[in-house]
Amino acid sequence: MNIYKNSLKNFNTFGIDVTAFKIIKITNINKLYYICKKYYYKSLPYIILGGGSNVLFLNHFKGIVIINRLKGININESKNCWNLHVYSGEYWHQFVKYTIKKGIFGLENLALIPGCVGSALIQNIGAYGVSLKNFCKYVDIMNLSNKKITRLSSKECNLQYRNSIFKNFYMHNYIIIALGMTISKKWKPNISYKDLNHLNLNTVTPHEIFNYICKIRKKKIPNPKIYGNAGSFFKNPLVSLKLGVKLLKTFPNIPYVIKNNIFKFSAAWLIDQCDLKGYIKGGAMIYFKHSLIIINKYKATSKDILYIAIKIYNSVGNKFGIWLEPEVRLIGSIGEINPSNIFTHNY
Ligand code: FAD
Ligand code: EPU
Repeated sequence: MNIYKNSLKNFNTFGIDVTAFKIIKITNINKLYYICKKYYYKSLPYIILGGGSNVLFLNHFKGIVIINRLKGININESKNCWNLHVYSGEYWHQFVKYTIKKGIFGLENLALIPGCVGSALIQNIGAYGVSLKNFCKYVDIMNLSNKKITRLSSKECNLQYRNSIFKNFYMHNYIIIALGMTISKKWKPNISYKDLNHLNLNTVTPHEIFNYICKIRKKKIPNPKIYGNAGSFFKNPLVSLKLGVKLLKTFPNIPYVIKNNIFKFSAAWLIDQCDLKGYIKGGAMIYFKHSLIIINKYKATSKDILYIAIKIYNSVGNKFGIWLEPEVRLIGSIGEINPSNIFTHNY
């Protein structure tokens, strides 16, 4: 096996010590196109990364890892809203801070999510009752085989819970270049999430929500610089009304939300019922403060992490008949691996 010397350890928040044939940071679109074309003709695989906060590298990567650093933020104002055009390599949390400093309010619930603006759209990032879908107006994408740039409307992106068209139709051969967002000038606090319920709707400020969310996130979610992780490893399962009602009869304490007759159950709770909190394999562990997060406690390999993920998948599946779907993207030696090849129940 070829082991390359370019380490990916600092380019994935799990801190997995694998290598790539080449790692290239890009700051402009022409260079990006040139690189993709060059390696395309050499038949080398490539993958684009923002912050590497939603990937698990399973092996050394035999191709080019492109680190997207396309930067720039343009703001236009209309009577009722702010229109922002943001390049995909901007860091999400820095961008949220920037808007708040400029007096543009609305993104505060999405504070402290790692990664870049472009990748944020791919799984329609969400937290504390808000998702990127609430603000996205359009996205500019480039077809890497012919350099053609296309603008898709938010509707065309089919943004759903941790899902979008970029996980299927536009998954290969396209890079997200920039995002267009519209933010209303009439700010309304969103304190619907239970952790925020105690805040006073009439007096709370965007800065207070921003600070409070940063505080609770720091309490619950491990800092990847201390314990490598990729946030929630699995998505919370979406369950039909019929099955949800049946499960609640047997397990009345499952935390859930219900929307449009679909239950969203807490995956962390399901994992806890399998007595897995704190479970260790090699250098990896199920985080003791949050069971949906697998951490790299000490020099974990991707095998350790995957072992735990499969253990969770089988335990929850066998106990509840719910087969969890990974949120984290699994990257093999020549590209992304379909999770159904690893988590072997059909979901
Ligand atoms: P990466 O991991 O770099 O890439 C993810 C995928 O997108 C890869 O398949 C990659 O090839 C592809 N990709 C990246 N950039 C581009 C591009 N420009 N064009 C095309 N494809 C591209 N997520 C939430 O939704 N809510 C949370 O509250 C949350 N909390 C988190 C907390 C922690 C501590 C961590 C580590 C993660 C958390 N996440 C959360 C998950 C993660 O931060 C988000 O999914 C984030 O948007 C990933 O961004 P990234 O730039 O790191 O993507
Ligand atoms: N809970 C447990 N055990 C735990 C942790 C939580 O039983 O170890 C239960 C509690 O009842 C708690 C409930 O689960 O009230 C929900 O927990 P939390 O508020 O932490 O939210 P979550 O559903 O586990 C989701 C997102 C997070 C996002 C938070 C806040 C997914 C997969 N995860 O987690 O996103 O930050 O809500 O909105 O939807 C991510 O996607 O990487 C991520 C971190």
